[in-house]
Amino acid sequence: MDYLKIQNVASLEGTINISGAKNASLPLIAMSILAKNSVHIKNLPHVVDIRTLLKLLSNLGATCEFFQDRVVVDTSNLSKTKATYDIVKTMRASILVLGPILSRFGHCEVSLPGGCAIGQRPIDLHLKALEQMGAKIDIKAGYIEATTPNGLHGCDIIFDKVTVTGTANIVMAAALAKGVTTITNAAREPEVVQLCEVLHASGVTIKGIGTAILEIHGTDGELLTIEEFCVIPDRIEAGTYLCAGAITRSELTLKNVEPKHLGAVLSKLEEMGSRFTITDDTITIHPSKNIKPVKIVTQEYPAFPTDMQAQFMALATQAEGVSIIEERLFENRFMHVSELQRMGADITLNGNTATVNGKSDLYGTDVMATDLRASSALVLAALVADKETNIHRIYHLDRGYDSLEKKLHLVGAKIQRLKE
Ligand code: UD1
Repeated sequence: MDYLKIQNVASLEGTINISGAKNASLPLIAMSILAKNSVHIKNLPHVVDIRTLLKLLSNLGATCEFFQDRVVVDTSNLSKTKATYDIVKTMRASILVLGPILSRFGHCEVSLPGGCAIGQRPIDLHLKALEQMGAKIDIKAGYIEATTPNGLHGCDIIFDKVTVTGTANIVMAAALAKGVTTITNAAREPEVVQLCEVLHASGVTIKGIGTAILEIHGTDGELLTIEEFCVIPDRIEAGTYLCAGAITRSELTLKNVEPKHLGAVLSKLEEMGSRFTITDDTITIHPSKNIKPVKIVTQEYPAFPTDMQAQFMALATQAEGVSIIEERLFENRFMHVSELQRMGADITLNGNTATVNGKSDLYGTDVMATDLRASSALVLAALVADKETNIHRIYHLDRGYDSLEKKLHLVGAKIQRLKE
């Protein structure tokens, strides 16, 4: 198993190239199931989750060819409709194939994803919406068995909670359904917006893109012709490197970013003292020497993202004063707290609220990555911790960060990937 050895560094300097968004790529790859042509997708990140989904599609009979950051997915030979446990257990987002397979083939089996490190993460809202559209769903022996005896039809769906992959799944199911589907309380995340935009450009009329009410006009089973497109930049990767600049008090420039997607993150970094120079696709952070404490509540887009909560907690350990971080989306997303405490952070947990008493002198030690974003928080803390930190179980990082140690090395971090 690989681990990262990170040494304290005085400062970083230079430019980091931001990769395509993992969370946009996953539904866009699943969307290729709705196409009659080979789908060309550009700007895919090199991360394990993408390879996992492509493997799942290959197992079902699709052809997936990878060329650097581009993939060509041909689902014309897709013959199997069962997403088995061995793959789904490694990546919950495998549930994204349910909507498109069901709407194209009329039947689909997907292993139940189960809980994960950050909480229970049910998929009841996906299933309820598909039932409303005419699907018959049984849960048997750990599998969701879905069929559509009379095809999928449009209807009015109201999500009780905003769900990102739930919205993506139902948008894809609705794309080939008969009639008009309305989703109220839809997710407005940029990754959902891009999925809707590509479908709209491929002949599925979608109204309300980027709002909480989506209206999808299905094609009644007719497969789509999807032209080549480019995945949007990863706003969470970008946010993580902005935090790297802030925590090391270093001027860093990010290129190939979409600043509009980072509103809440930039605003919190500004509250903490950083300033920015922003162009259409670059952001340069000018950090302050004294980091100010902050209050953060995680919520759905466009509010502050839960996927940036752990990184800001690492940054808050270096703020002069008390920061309060409230996690509203996932019940158990504080696994990084005990590891940061082992590095010397002063953090108290009370339910879903963490109080971070800064500033703490962090010291390097052995720590364990517990989930994707928790891992990047440990990397940030290690950059400023005394001496040397070894971060174990970094397979979590590899799921979602493209070439993290190479990108940080290029801007001067002392970071090495080693074998246990
Ligand atoms: C997606 C992102 C993940 C991010 C999360 C929240 C992908 C691949 N993953 O995860 O990185 O942290 O959005 O922004 O895009 N819920 C239910 N029932 C459901 C579905 C969700 O109760 O059927 C609850 C969840 O437990 C959670 C909340 O709704 O409390 C939001 O979850 P959701 O938006 O669905 O997260 P994911 O799509 O799994």
